[in-house]
Amino acid sequence: MWFLKRGWQLRLLQFIAVLGSLWMLFLLSQLKTGRSAAYILRYQWLEYTDDDESPEKVCNCSAILLGEEEEIQQSKLLSISKDFQKSTQIPDEYYINATKDCSKFKTSRKYITFPLSEEEEDFPLAYSMVVHHKVHSFERLLRAIYAPQNIYCVHVDKKSPASVFIAINAITSCFPNVFMVSKAVNVVYAGWTRVQADLNCMADLYNTSTTWKYFINLCGQDFPLKTNLEIVKALRSLKGGNSMESEEMPQGKKGRVTNVHEVVDGQMQRTGKTKDPAPFNLPILSGNAYIVVNRGYVRSVLEDKRIQALIEWAKDTYSPDEFLWATIQRIPGVPGSTWPNRKFDMTDMNAIARMVKWHWHEGSEDSLQAVYPECKGHHVRSICVYGAGDLQWLIEQHHLFANKFDADRDLIAIYCLEKYLRHKALIELV
Ligand SMILES: *[C@@H]1O[C@H](CO)[C@@H](O)[C@H](O)[C@H]1NC(C)=O
Ligand SMILES: *[C@@H]1O[C@H](CO)[C@@H](O)[C@H](O)[C@H]1NC(C)=O
Ligand SMILES: *[C@@H]1O[C@H](CO)[C@@H](O)[C@H](O)[C@H]1NC(C)=O
Repeated sequence: MWFLKRGWQLRLLQFIAVLGSLWMLFLLSQLKTGRSAAYILRYQWLEYTDDDESPEKVCNCSAILLGEEEEIQQSKLLSISKDFQKSTQIPDEYYINATKDCSKFKTSRKYITFPLSEEEEDFPLAYSMVVHHKVHSFERLLRAIYAPQNIYCVHVDKKSPASVFIAINAITSCFPNVFMVSKAVNVVYAGWTRVQADLNCMADLYNTSTTWKYFINLCGQDFPLKTNLEIVKALRSLKGGNSMESEEMPQGKKGRVTNVHEVVDGQMQRTGKTKDPAPFNLPILSGNAYIVVNRGYVRSVLEDKRIQALIEWAKDTYSPDEFLWATIQRIPGVPGSTWPNRKFDMTDMNAIARMVKWHWHEGSEDSLQAVYPECKGHHVRSICVYGAGDLQWLIEQHHLFANKFDADRDLIAIYCLEKYLRHKALIELV
């Protein structure tokens, strides 16, 4: 630039630089619209849209998730109308028939059959699903958590009606990574077999695949609050730790482990005998049935001699599912565990495994006792079965899953949640 004075040379250079950055901006914007065009072509059909032939579509889920009272009241009226319930139920026979053509079934039910991201592909999960009825609820749950890199073991209660077993078996046979447990048991409420069902799935999952990183157990009335990617991110941030309720056992529950129990006519009863203390003087902690644990924890459950002894000891206690996992979580040397010291106690609200709303903990925000807002659905055995009005609060929580949902009683809560999660999972792609 010998022909220009020094100041002009500088200005020319600046001009070229500005042109260059404008060009870059233009290229970037092209790339973006190119991407969203690709999104519309490749993924948009996987959204649950209002074009779908679902009767639930009359509800405005955006308004429900924003907590708009009028829409929530309307959805409540709709939920309890007999016509609506009749038209939204998917009978067991549908699943038995529709799964004869698996690829059609997966397409029409909009299953996601490819990993949505590398991060998820590199972090497979293992699920144990213990169910006994309501095939429709089960299938919506499976559809919400299904990803081809994960692995799913389904335990159907041995005493379930044949149609439930046949329909669920038919659904699982459509997926290479979903299988029925090798040994099903008869699950007794508050009895040992509830734990045995999960143990059988743990063993099968551990045997079937060596690559999964975390184990999550579910029942048929759970539903996710997060996308698979969000679950993977939350688990990675645990840095190998496990997450579950594990605290000092309240005085009122101690009788569960100091008395010998037996099953009489399908119910747990005390025999009048007193139990010996737990093996190795292990401190028994209180928790719940639902956990999020790494692969090493599951290996310990299957192989550690101390835990084998604890399992044998726990078989005649009351509701062992509500202390066994919590106790193992505090045994020194178990991968992802914490020390037994009380300072490591964790409540269900601080753990990410499960959000359950108990009736007696509900109340208004300004109350000093309340743990969560009042249930907007109804209660079953003092547990909230969520209604559409609970969603706005639920999706703000850090828990990966919530319990209970019921597709027969409040389908709109499930419908709006699944729609919200699917949309979120797909927009995470772009
Ligand atoms: C649904 O509710 C949202 C939020 O209030 C509103 O913006 C939207 O227009 C509503 N959609 C329909 C179809 O009514
Ligand atoms: C059974 O499934 C086939 C194919 O998926 C479908 O064409 C047919 O209508 C179904 N029959 C009934 C009775 O649902
Ligand atoms: C599966 O695990 C069980 C118990 O942990 C073990 O006894 C069995 O040999 C394993 N089976 C296979 C096929 O690896």
